This record gives sequence, C-alpha cells and structure tokens, in this order.
Amino acid sequence: MEERVLVFDTTLRDGEQSPGCSMNLQEKLEMARQLDRLGVDILEAGFPVASAGDFESVQAIAAEIRRPVIAALARANRLDIDRAWEALQGAARPRIHTFLATSDIHLKYKLHKTREEVLKLIAWAVGYAKSLCADIEFSPEDAGRTDPDYLVECCHAAVEAGATVLNLPDTVGYCLETEYEQVFSSIKSRVPGMDHVILSTHTHDDLGLAVANTLAGLRGGARQVECTINGIGERAGNAALEEVVMALRVRRETLSLDTDVRTEELYPSSQLLSRLTGVAVQRNKAIVGKNAFAHEAGIHQDGILKNVITYEIMEPQTVGMPANSLVLGKHSGRHALAKRYEELGYPLSKPELDRAYSTFIQIADRKKQVYDEDLIAIVLEGLDHAPQWFTLKLFQSVASSEGRSTATVEVVKDGQTFHDSATGDGPCDAAFRVIDRITGLPGTVSDFSVHTIGEGAQGVAEVTVRASFRGQEFTGKWTGQNVVEAAARAYLQTANRAAHALARVEAAAAAAASTKPVHANARVDSLYPGGY
Ligand code: KIV
Ligand code: ZN
Repeated sequence: MEERVLVFDTTLRDGEQSPGCSMNLQEKLEMARQLDRLGVDILEAGFPVASAGDFESVQAIAAEIRRPVIAALARANRLDIDRAWEALQGAARPRIHTFLATSDIHLKYKLHKTREEVLKLIAWAVGYAKSLCADIEFSPEDAGRTDPDYLVECCHAAVEAGATVLNLPDTVGYCLETEYEQVFSSIKSRVPGMDHVILSTHTHDDLGLAVANTLAGLRGGARQVECTINGIGERAGNAALEEVVMALRVRRETLSLDTDVRTEELYPSSQLLSRLTGVAVQRNKAIVGKNAFAHEAGIHQDGILKNVITYEIMEPQTVGMPANSLVLGKHSGRHALAKRYEELGYPLSKPELDRAYSTFIQIADRKKQVYDEDLIAIVLEGLDHAPQWFTLKLFQSVASSEGRSTATVEVVKDGQTFHDSATGDGPCDAAFRVIDRITGLPGTVSDFSVHTIGEGAQGVAEVTVRASFRGQEFTGKWTGQNVVEAAARAYLQTANRAAHALARVEAAAAAAASTKPVHANARVDSLYPGGY
C-alpha cells in the first residue's frame, strides 16, 4: 500500500503573485471551488497583509471552502500573523503559514540580522502563531542555500515552539536533486521531535528542476508537496501540481507514494486557470498541454493503433482531457452536440445549448470539422454568468497600414442602442476606444493575446484581453474567425465584468449606508461618469 502525500496548492498565493496571473475575488473563489473538486489537501488562499483584496479573498475562501485546510501566509511579525488569523476566522480547518529567511545571503543583505536574532524571531513568531491557531507551518525561506547546521537549529526552534509542518523551500530554484534530498534527510534525522511534524517541499523552476526536486524531497522524507496548477509562480514558476501528481500516480508502484487528488479534474483545473488569468498553457506542457497526448509521427500512430501502450504511459481521460476525436460537422444536429458536450463534461442547460449551437453552426459553416477544443472554447465563452450590461450589435473596422484605423460599433446599454466610431493606432485600439466611450467605463489593457484553435488558416482565433478598470483587473476571452471583432467582444466582456463587480461594490456601500436593502445588481448611475 502506498503512503499518502499531502498536496498543498499555492496557485492562489505563490502562483497568483506572478506577473500576468492576478485574479479578482470572484475569480479566486471560482478557482478555489475547482481546487476543492480536484481534492487538494491544503489550499493556500493568499497573503492577507499584502492588500485589502488579498485579505478579503482569504476570508471569502475560508468561509466557503470547508473540506481542505485553508492556509494564509504571514511574515514572522505580529501584524502579519494577526491579519492572517483574522482572515482565517471563518475557516473550518485554518492554518497559519509563517516564514523567515535563514540563508546568510538573506540575513546579510535583506534582513540585516544576525543568526541569533533570526533564531529568536522564529521561536517567537511560531510560538505567537501557535497561541492563536493549532496548525502552524513554518518556512525557513531560502532553505536550499542555508548552512545545514544553522538550518537544523532554525527548524529545531520552530518545532519546539509548536510548528506542525516544516516547509523547506528552494526559494530561488538553485538546488540540484541530490542536494535538495539531503536537506530533508538532514532535518529528519537531526531535529528532535520530528515524529509529529510533516516535512514539506516547495520548489521553484529556475533551472527546470522544480518537479524533479519535489520528488527528491519526497525521497528525503517529505510527505507534503507545495505546487501550483500549470506551474505558475514567481519567476519561472513553482512545481506544476499536475506533473507531481501524475508522476506519483503513474510510478506509484516504484515510489510507493500516492496522493488523494482526483486526476480527472487536472485538465479542467488547468483550463479554468488559463481562462481566468488569460495565460495560455504551452502546447507541449506535460499532462495538460494540447499536444501532451497527440501522436504525429507515422511510426507512433501506427504503434498506437496496434496498442496504445506502445507510446502512451497514461490515458488522456485519466487527467480529464477529452479524447481529441473530430466528430461533428455542419450536418450534426442539436442532439449530437448536446451529447458530445455531456461526454466532454459540460452538461448544458437549454439556453446554453441554444447559444452554443448557433456559434457551432457558424463555425461548422466555415470549417469542415469542428474539434472538441473548438466546442470547449465555444461553451466556456457562453458560461459567463456575469449579466450583460453592454451587448455588441454591430461591428465594423477599417485597418490601414498608414495613418490611423477606424472602428464603428453599435452597443446596447440599458435597453438603448448607441452607435459611434473612433480612430486608434490599430483596429483593436480603435475598437477599445469607441467601446470605452459608449460604456463610460474606460479600461487600460494590460495583456492581449491571440492564438488559433483548430487546424490551419481555417482555425478560429481565441483572443484574450486583460484590462483594469478603476484599479481592478478583469479578463475577457472570445473566439471567432475575425480577430479584431473577437478582440472587441473580449474587451466588451471585461467591461461587462467590471460593471458587474463595481455595481456590487457600490450596492454594498449603499446598503451599508441605508437601512433599506439594495439589490446587488441595482444600476448605479455614477458608474458611468461621462458615458452616454
Ligand atoms: O519560495 C518561497 O520561499 C516561498 C515561501 C514564502 C514559502 O514562497
Ligand atoms: Zn515560493
């Protein structure tokens, strides 16, 4: 029987703090629900002292997600620990995760503290956190570059003060596998009282070794792994959860270790994160990339047809990836479409199916074959529950290689149709400007990406736009054959999400100021200063 490895997901903390991966409260909640479905044991929800937004999202996740342990990060000081504990108040199973750097490099250049001072601080911080919460994780930051004897002293201090988990991070992704394994075996054998303490890995991918080092840490005695979906995280990222989990699952007989993760939820988790952040998953990404199970070479295809085990070490369905069969074309009916969506894990309501079917027919008219990935793109687009404050009725654009481009749109807002044109540095810029003018909610685009879904020039463009509105970021995604129109629709979707979120904030403020209940979706005129 394999020993259990606990999975500590830090997508919403270490992952979310990496550039381009920030999420708003609703997005974090949606991701947290998916991580719960995935079956992670510990969910690090954020760093509450970092911002009001971080505090609120930890609080909201702690209140709603009941099964996994909910962890909140805190530096080794009273304010951080108090904020983390406050944010965790509603949690069924709270954990405070406190950290302090221990390498000489960090002590000298960052903390300006002696080894003795840091030792005292560790004992104080862990002891203080323990006086509030039973479950305490301590991380000696940059453990991978810390003097081994001093690391033993730091870990000893943390264990004596009540730490239940010791996480030994390779903060800068510097360690080789043998070195990282040694860090664990040294702490396990030299620190007294380790029988009741769980050792944890936390690796970064600067040298492309994050997953290999995670497995090395397990060989050294770790039984908790810290990782993120799609490997997002600081700089080159953290160990990818899906890779660690599948390495353990596929090789469990050799490693005698396994996790409780529901592997069929790996691909949906990866897709959801990509949709929420707008950061695409590279095609050849292990486990969840589009090519992870695609066999192109004739010799491989021949082998696969004879017996899949010739070239496949796991089945795509095991990780929740739909088999990439092309089944539908323009003659396929609504019933066949509904059935295929069910097989792909998206049972649709009647209105959702109606919408998906009409987009499907448009695409099927232009392309001979509609692939599963096209279908998923269509349905994810449709599953946008934010109310449509603004609807695009008409779109025209004129691009010019010289001078400015023009975009003309017709947008319905509050039941009224507005028609306007604007010029810009390119057709997308022109479209965004005219949309801003009509909505009265100007946004600043921080990320813009286009990639094709499906085969060749007939493929559909998937445009992702990330834009900030009054300091809050939102992502919009749209698929279509016309790239500029898809960009305009994706941008309008960000505006819809922003309008919805801002209205909720204003409605909540209005409700707090008056005794009368205010509907959360109530329209607030001040949302549109200067708009039509
Ligand atoms: O990489 C690191 O050291 C961290 C700690 C805060 C655990 O993320
Ligand atoms: Zn980290």
